[in-house]
Amino acid sequence: MSEYTRKPWIRVGRIDEIPEDQALRLDTTPPVSVFRSDGEFFCVDDTCTHEDFSLADGWVEDGAVECPLHLAKFCLRTGAALATPACRPLATHEVRVDGADVYVRIERGGDDRVDGHCPGAIGSNAGRRDAEGAGHGMA
Ligand code: FES
Repeated sequence: MSEYTRKPWIRVGRIDEIPEDQALRLDTTPPVSVFRSDGEFFCVDDTCTHEDFSLADGWVEDGAVECPLHLAKFCLRTGAALATPACRPLATHEVRVDGADVYVRIERGGDDRVDGHCPGAIGSNAGRRDAEGAGHGMA
């Protein structure tokens, strides 16, 4: 069952604290990062869905982030996995710019994350577990 709890907006910082094509990691549980790309701000889960690595250190370009560890790529707007070895999407979160400040709202549902690996289903939640994904997915 999915049960959402409406969360308040969290102030991330000033817009000039997040330079173009960079990110600011927030110490939430799980961690999220706020990215700036093409003048827009995006908030996604910080941990790559391939393995446990921070995307805040990734290469940001044209609304996407590339994981520095194995070069999986994710769309910052939708969270979709755009390049293997990751195939599960990132959770996305609302972002708001108010004056010179950036805010995010992080809401989580009880079953909004898919466990397992999803080869062939890039960017969707239609996951399935396979031998290659064993040990890489969420428990
Ligand atoms: S940990 Fe990100 S691609 Fe492997």
